[in-house]
Amino acid sequence: MQRALQYIESNKERYLSELKEFLAIPSVSSQSTHNGDMQRCAQWVADHMRTIGMQNVKVMPTPGHPVVYSEWLGAPGAPTVLLYGHYDVQPVDPLNLWTSPPFEMTIRGEQIFARGAADDKGQVFIHFKSIEAIMKQSGKLPVNIKMLIEGEEEVGSENLDNFVKDHTELLKADLVLISDSSMFAKDVPSICYALRGLSYLEIEVTGPNKDLHSGSFGGSVHNPIQALSEMIASLHDKNGKVTIPGFYNKVRALSKAERTAFAKLPFKEKEYAKDLGVKELYGEKGFSSLERVWARPTLECNGIWGGYTGEGAKTVLPSKAFAKISCRLVPDQDSASIAKMVEKHLKKIAPKTIQIQVRNLHGGEAAITPINSPGVQAAIVALEKGFGKKPLYQREGGSIPIVVQFKKLLGLDTVLLGFGLPDENAHSPNEFLNINNFYGGIKTSVHFFNELPNFWKGKSKK
Ligand code: BES
Ligand code: ZN
Repeated sequence: MQRALQYIESNKERYLSELKEFLAIPSVSSQSTHNGDMQRCAQWVADHMRTIGMQNVKVMPTPGHPVVYSEWLGAPGAPTVLLYGHYDVQPVDPLNLWTSPPFEMTIRGEQIFARGAADDKGQVFIHFKSIEAIMKQSGKLPVNIKMLIEGEEEVGSENLDNFVKDHTELLKADLVLISDSSMFAKDVPSICYALRGLSYLEIEVTGPNKDLHSGSFGGSVHNPIQALSEMIASLHDKNGKVTIPGFYNKVRALSKAERTAFAKLPFKEKEYAKDLGVKELYGEKGFSSLERVWARPTLECNGIWGGYTGEGAKTVLPSKAFAKISCRLVPDQDSASIAKMVEKHLKKIAPKTIQIQVRNLHGGEAAITPINSPGVQAAIVALEKGFGKKPLYQREGGSIPIVVQFKKLLGLDTVLLGFGLPDENAHSPNEFLNINNFYGGIKTSVHFFNELPNFWKGKSKK
């Protein structure tokens, strides 16, 4: 193991230049103009898996973007880790706010900037490099590994469900390992044990059957942008609560113990607000910010458009207005029921002056993973060795839809071992991965694979 750690030290620069290649591929899953890049990126992942010693490497088609699978099964009796991650990234807009081009990895200070640096290519790559180090130094791994790196996580993992259902034998393992989340703060490693779910909807509101002159018609026709804004504004009350009837029905209440644990975390609301550039925070009354983000459901408008948005002025009363709305969900809400509930409510409150269409784009369920599992115990030791500090327990507000499905379809618990940072600018311009977290993550990963068999003695199902 010591040799693997030395190998990492002496290959630091090469690791970065290979990461640069990976990050240079604009694998934006939501934009069809990048379909070719998605194929190219899957191929890059597959080729890279081969170079680090993985076997049975396959780029496997789905009705959407391909999944990349590989395995190394040379440790009989040892546990089998299913390493999941994603090679797809979010769109880069607004491009003009990037300090350096999003697909040209650039290091400034401690940060590695590029789209996907943290979410999730950089974190997938961390495990590739730890595996390479162990393999190159000892010719074998202390555990069995199966890798499942998909290309549709950022668009809801819609095709992965069926992929997993169709390949339960291939994906048989003892636990899932995912690095697609963040540490609590810089130099504060953490184990994440909960993610929120999601329901994503798109609304189309139609007023008059064509765009109109706002002078000739303004005053006699309900402007669809106004109607849509009125509807959206009514979805929260003055206490920050979502007004849709039934929205909170299934929400599992936070236990006293969990609220106390959150309150003890090194988190200062004032600094948080200052970092975000807001004078005051906003949210559901009666809950702290961490509670609101980690354990309460929310509804956000992710986008709203319509009418004239080009240069200069145009006096138009538009025919249509659109919005994208999503709800973050917590146990025991169900994403399909919430989507129906939101749609029904929108149709009910829609004024007679307009017509409304609601499309359900995608959804995923919230997840809670056990913190006493052998995988988590191994991760705690690994983080302590990799970062020199005992990790905290935390939840996250983001979503990784397949986590619940791994439990349902394969019976597997997941270890969420995040190496990002809360201010990493994921999904936003200037995304970065901290360089110390990159190398610390690789070391932690080496320790994790090394420690896992100690915590698994007698527990391997294989
Ligand atoms: N890496 C994130 C998930 C995440 C975000 C974990 C924040 C912890 C904190 C992942 O790539 C992601 O962005 N997921 C989407 C899923 C959605 C499209 C179903 C998300 O959360 O918006
Ligand atoms: Zn993401």
